[in-house]
Amino acid sequence: MTQHSLFAKKQIDVNQFKNSTLERHLTAFGLTAMGVGAVVGAGIFITPGIIAAKYAGPGAMLSYLLAAVVCAMAALCYSEFASTIPLAGSAYTYVYTVFGELIAWILGWALISEYLFAVASVAVSWSAYFQNLIAGFGLQLPTFLSTAWTPGHPGGINLIAGLITLLIGFLLSSGLRESTRINMIMVGVKVAVIVIFLGVAIFYVKPTNFKPFLPFGAGGILSGAALAFYAYIGFDAVSTASEEVVNPQRDMPIGIIASLLIASLLYAAVATVLVGVVHYTKLNVGDPVAFALQLMHQNWVAGIVALGAVAGMTTVLLVMTYGGTRLIFAISRDGLLPPVFAKVSSKTHVPVANTWIFAIVTSIVAVVVPLDKIAELVNIGTLFAFATVSLGVIFLRKLPFYNELPQGFKVPLFPWIPLLSCGLCLLLMTQLQLTTWIVFLIWLVIGLTIYFSYGYRHSRQ
Ligand code: ALA
Repeated sequence: MTQHSLFAKKQIDVNQFKNSTLERHLTAFGLTAMGVGAVVGAGIFITPGIIAAKYAGPGAMLSYLLAAVVCAMAALCYSEFASTIPLAGSAYTYVYTVFGELIAWILGWALISEYLFAVASVAVSWSAYFQNLIAGFGLQLPTFLSTAWTPGHPGGINLIAGLITLLIGFLLSSGLRESTRINMIMVGVKVAVIVIFLGVAIFYVKPTNFKPFLPFGAGGILSGAALAFYAYIGFDAVSTASEEVVNPQRDMPIGIIASLLIASLLYAAVATVLVGVVHYTKLNVGDPVAFALQLMHQNWVAGIVALGAVAGMTTVLLVMTYGGTRLIFAISRDGLLPPVFAKVSSKTHVPVANTWIFAIVTSIVAVVVPLDKIAELVNIGTLFAFATVSLGVIFLRKLPFYNELPQGFKVPLFPWIPLLSCGLCLLLMTQLQLTTWIVFLIWLVIGLTIYFSYGYRHSRQ
């Protein structure tokens, strides 16, 4: 048991950055491919429908563009941290260094919710597209097993979503690593599938579907952006590769911003075409892209898109499960979570128990919670983390040993961009539903209980 300040800061040995053992092989292009691989997944195949139907109407593309601006600013802050403190654990470690243990724990706990709910929600979307795909072969699950129960709708449990998360857990616990080559291929498939959809659907756009453009008013753009934000989550994974980048100062911001730019162009284009084809009032479905193609009687294209979506979402599942387990690993290594999460198998060099626990918990969430509820939970945790990281950059530059740290990328227009980034993240948080806030606050209370009953006593600080 230790007695230490709640704000004890992580001590970092500045010399460890000078002799990195990792090979510097990633270029701006490689980073961009990695970013698009981690980012473009369920968001583009599910959220445009919900955003159009419930928040922004045919103006859904504006929500995507606004969310992209918020992400770009947070991305610049991430880039500065990633090139100044290139350590495992990403934002959790950055904040530990700058704000100390308690804030780092709260942020780490919020990030766990990001990864956990991101995996669960992508799994639900994966399941919707997979079921679509097998329907093409005349196979159909009983309604009770096909989707989670929601009041007023038939359903029971989402069996496929539960199984895919367990399968991903199995793959990762057996030592599978994301390979750059597989990722590149998947990225190519994803982008190709989206371009095919756009190329076919554009001929079915009815200009009357764009009226009224903003049925829920301009405020709908903001609420829509809070959900659209989900589609951009994952670019923070790029920042963790900074030790392996040839010229991080130049390539890191290019890689992060280029992936966000590609993603936002794809999203805005898909959202626009989608609401042009299907009236926004009919879009509150789990698989809007496939749904639009069915309405157009383009069944073979729907099949290709479903296949591409399933393949594309698999990489997101792998990257996010990997990221989540490594975050928990870093927290456990610092003593704030039980050592079982940091125990690495001598055979596979993977934190096996950690991976299985993570997979089982995400599986349970994916089986019983409906999609829109999970998507909002991902966002609130992530927005909270981004707001903290943005503010953290200001304090990073004030650290007494700041000048001894590697001087990499620096956020332009300092301190305005970090402040604006923090403010916009908080603004988007205010747009989320009350139930999302309540669940998030309960999540934080559970986190604080764990910290004060376990983490504080076992911390290695
Ligand atoms: N951005 C990730 C996706 O859309 C969560 O799948």
